[in-house]
Amino acid sequence: MFLEKMLQSQGFGSRKYCQQLIKNGAVEINAEVVDNPKLKLDLSDLHFSVYGEEYLYREHLYIALNKPKGYECSHQATHHFSVFELFDETLLNRGLQCVGRLDQDTTGLLLLTDDGQYLQALTHPKKHVAKVYVMETADAVTAEQIQQLEQGVELRNENGIFAATDVNLLDTHKLQMTVHQGVYHQVKRMLAAVGNKVEHLHRAQIGKLDLEDLAEGEWVYLTSDQIEQSKFREQ
Ligand code: URA
Repeated sequence: MFLEKMLQSQGFGSRKYCQQLIKNGAVEINAEVVDNPKLKLDLSDLHFSVYGEEYLYREHLYIALNKPKGYECSHQATHHFSVFELFDETLLNRGLQCVGRLDQDTTGLLLLTDDGQYLQALTHPKKHVAKVYVMETADAVTAEQIQQLEQGVELRNENGIFAATDVNLLDTHKLQMTVHQGVYHQVKRMLAAVGNKVEHLHRAQIGKLDLEDLAEGEWVYLTSDQIEQSKFREQ
């Protein structure tokens, strides 16, 4: 791939703008300025810098964010911040999208990508991967509520039964459970359906991928192993 095309693919702007960056001497490969926009590149493990900032060539973006409270998963957030404000322009230029959504007041693992196939693999209604949530509840969780969640509840305007698996009481008002679909406000509505209320919701895991040590508001690029873990589905 030509250098100018590579820069464009990485979100640095139009082909013309990238040509200009190169001609201005802003781009370095192996610590040497490259001023030929048509330089042909081997993309494997390609490191480069633009105005001194280091980058690695990535064909696609796979990102895990520990979403803070008060951020919406939409580009045009109305009442809160947008999660996209946490990323710089080069990533946004590449068409970064949220893989599913978390409510503005939910914290935890949110994946973002520019790879349509990956997005589809994780969010297609027939292929939803398991998601683990931890929540604090308004009332103490009862054994009956746990049983109802495991047996499944109906949700208004949704078809079918919504059941949780691996429901664990962590404290009187703290519950962990795994859900396998992804309808709007699913966890909060499931808790409401059994007569309780979610006070705080946190997503801890998608597939087999968890947040490990990521602090709230921080994000990382996923490794290829982590990408596979996020897609994991029980057979
Ligand atoms: N279920 C909810 O109710 N809210 C979320 O943010 C995610 C799952």
